Amino acid sequence: MEKEISTFNPSKEDLVLLLAKRSMQAHQVWARGYETCKQNTAGVIYLRGLAEISNICGKDCYYCGIRKSNEAVERYTMCKEDILLAAAQAHKNNLGSITLQSGEVKSPDFTNFAEEIIKEIKMNFPDLKIVLSFGEQSKDTYKLWKAAGADRYLLKIETTSQRLYSMLHPQNVTHSLEKRKKALAALKETGYQVGSGIMVGLPGQNLSDIANDILFFKEIDMDMAGIGPYIEHSQTPLAGNEEIPPEETRLVLTLNTIAALRIAMPSINIAAATSLDALNKYGKEMAVSAGANVIMINLTPEGHRKNYRLYERGLDELDKNVLAQLESYGEKIAYGAGGDSLHFINRTRLSF
Ligand code: 5AD
Repeated sequence: MEKEISTFNPSKEDLVLLLAKRSMQAHQVWARGYETCKQNTAGVIYLRGLAEISNICGKDCYYCGIRKSNEAVERYTMCKEDILLAAAQAHKNNLGSITLQSGEVKSPDFTNFAEEIIKEIKMNFPDLKIVLSFGEQSKDTYKLWKAAGADRYLLKIETTSQRLYSMLHPQNVTHSLEKRKKALAALKETGYQVGSGIMVGLPGQNLSDIANDILFFKEIDMDMAGIGPYIEHSQTPLAGNEEIPPEETRLVLTLNTIAALRIAMPSINIAAATSLDALNKYGKEMAVSAGANVIMINLTPEGHRKNYRLYERGLDELDKNVLAQLESYGEKIAYGAGGDSLHFINRTRLSF
């Protein structure tokens, strides 16, 4: 008889069993992820605008197209007016929230620039929730941005395995798994709604690694997640690695991970990462069918997009109307909703 796997508290062994499923059995895991999502969240799809405000990065991650030593990338930082225009677009299109993302820059100039932008967005669009994705920063900087009006912060751990982390990053103090974990703790202490995530299908990554990542997310009591497949970028050292799993494996494993995470943490927000679209035209829709409840809409001006390629992908995803597609499946899109994670609402309510 099939082993009963508990929602909320699957063991590591249970998670590995879920992650290992293929074909029809994988579909059953996705269906359980989907049902768990509908029963434990508001049951709607939240939207987030995404503005990739700068591709300047101090890090040199071996998988990422905008890594510091990639000299083929033309570097940019959007001006304040353009960022405010992106926020206005998010507001006008009823997206409910905006994610400001950039490479990791630790400088007083960037800190102050970001603070100013956050304040202006809040002043002009008080209901628009602001999500930051600016990498590892000091706790003081996190506090400053929170005080300026930021609501949420996304800092992906990428992997919690020290073995994989060392394979994916240069061995120096700028790239440290421990520091990244500390940054996540600082964000939590500062009062943000905190998100993290991993890349799935990394060379050398096994099911036990992913199960450990999910257990780590439970341990830090994360509120939201972005889960996406690893996609090669030819201008990076990792691209030629011979252990990169086939695309089909990466797609199925990413969907299994979304479903397993949903089963382990039923009320968090899970975003369908844009990198899924690089593997399948209907990547985001598939993510929703496995338990994701957030869709990102790219608002980065066309001129900059070609310079914000973390991984390589086709252009067709830009044209496709994912929302119309989801609505045709009967999904309810929560236009205009800020989209706080129910997990966050519940955990902060308890502390009053
Ligand atoms: N494939 C998939 N995702 C990537 N990211 C960066 N490079 C890649 C890649 N090659 C993701 C990471 C990072 C986020 C900004 O983009 O998860 O945290």
